[in-house]
Amino acid sequence: MRVLGIKRIEFSGNEIVLDIISDEGSEISLKINPLFFPAFAATIYKAVENFKNFYFSLNIKNYNEILFQDIYRNFILPYKLMGFEEDFRKKIKELVYFQVQNNFQNRVVVVQSIIDKFNFKSYLEIGVETGFSFFQIQAQKKFAVDPNFKISGGFKDSENERFFQMTSDDFFERFAEKVLPGEGVDIVFIDGLHTFEQSLKDVQNSLKFLSPRGFIVMHDCLPHNFPSSLPSLEEAVKHPDFDGGWSGDVYKTIIYLRTFFKDLFVAVLNCDHGVGIIKRGEPENTLNLTLDEIRNIDFFKLMERKEELLNLKSWEWFSNWLSFFDVQSSIISHTLFFKIHFVIPPVGDRTENAIKSFPHLR
Ligand SMILES: C[S@@+](CC[C@H](N)C(=O)[O-])C[C@H]1O[C@@H](n2cnc3c(N)ncnc32)[C@H](O)[C@@H]1O
Repeated sequence: MRVLGIKRIEFSGNEIVLDIISDEGSEISLKINPLFFPAFAATIYKAVENFKNFYFSLNIKNYNEILFQDIYRNFILPYKLMGFEEDFRKKIKELVYFQVQNNFQNRVVVVQSIIDKFNFKSYLEIGVETGFSFFQIQAQKKFAVDPNFKISGGFKDSENERFFQMTSDDFFERFAEKVLPGEGVDIVFIDGLHTFEQSLKDVQNSLKFLSPRGFIVMHDCLPHNFPSSLPSLEEAVKHPDFDGGWSGDVYKTIIYLRTFFKDLFVAVLNCDHGVGIIKRGEPENTLNLTLDEIRNIDFFKLMERKEELLNLKSWEWFSNWLSFFDVQSSIISHTLFFKIHFVIPPVGDRTENAIKSFPHLR
């Protein structure tokens, strides 16, 4: 993230509070202890003298995932690395509700909105990687499955969270029955191996352990270009236009479910590489295809009929659809304006070590 401008500078105690506009269009409130940035602080002091309450005219609202990944890595994860677990949890909760309340369009908002709407208690994530989504999601019982966790600062089981370092197949075969709630898990977020076969298996296994009112949310149902849609990552990375994003052919699972599962409601939200929503109940409409035909749908064929094949829906549709359910909503406190305040923790050995590993915090 690059800082495009400073909208407001204020002093509060021995902290400098900056309202920053980034090149991503976001406005972020930063609290900085001048001790950490002596030269920077001096410049700011001077700037304040010259531009008291200087307002930038820019107010672009063009938020995207990179911004939140940056915020997570740079301003929230350090608390975890420094052992300030409570602060880490507090900040990450602020991050997710900041997105929910400002109506950001991504997988985390979809999952959290469903949890809050239905007062769901349990959450299973397949394919967790760094924990970017997993730690943000707020639920009473959370289960993380990944054969190769990349969670900075490590992970350990607690009352609220359990980690299973294994494939989803292993988890479903050996652990699901023992550890998931007897009445079924309320929401499963599938974001593991992005192939048709595996994502379909993940859906089928999830359905076995899903609570009657439960939801499955599946990431990467709408690849953004040809290389990202290739069935294997090895193949995708060799393509000259590969840009690092790989959705694989998960979209075929959506098409398969819409063809062969007449007792499932299936739709895909047109945001964040396609966020699939799967739930027991009447399908809105179904497809009439053979397995071979489904296998042969490549990126270009998908693009020609993506609305029909995926039952593609807008964000507005999602908001209305969710409000349609007659369930008493809870948890989200609809604060009109919500700002994130990042406070650099006090000086100490651990702080200094963490700052060394985050050059921009120096
Ligand atoms: C795209 S990342 C997940 C990102 C994460 N859900 C998020 O939103 O931040 C995909 C993850 O799936 C994991 N994975 C690959 N094969 C898997 C399998 N068979 N079962 C479960 N997870 C798998 C990978 O190790 C990787 O960490």
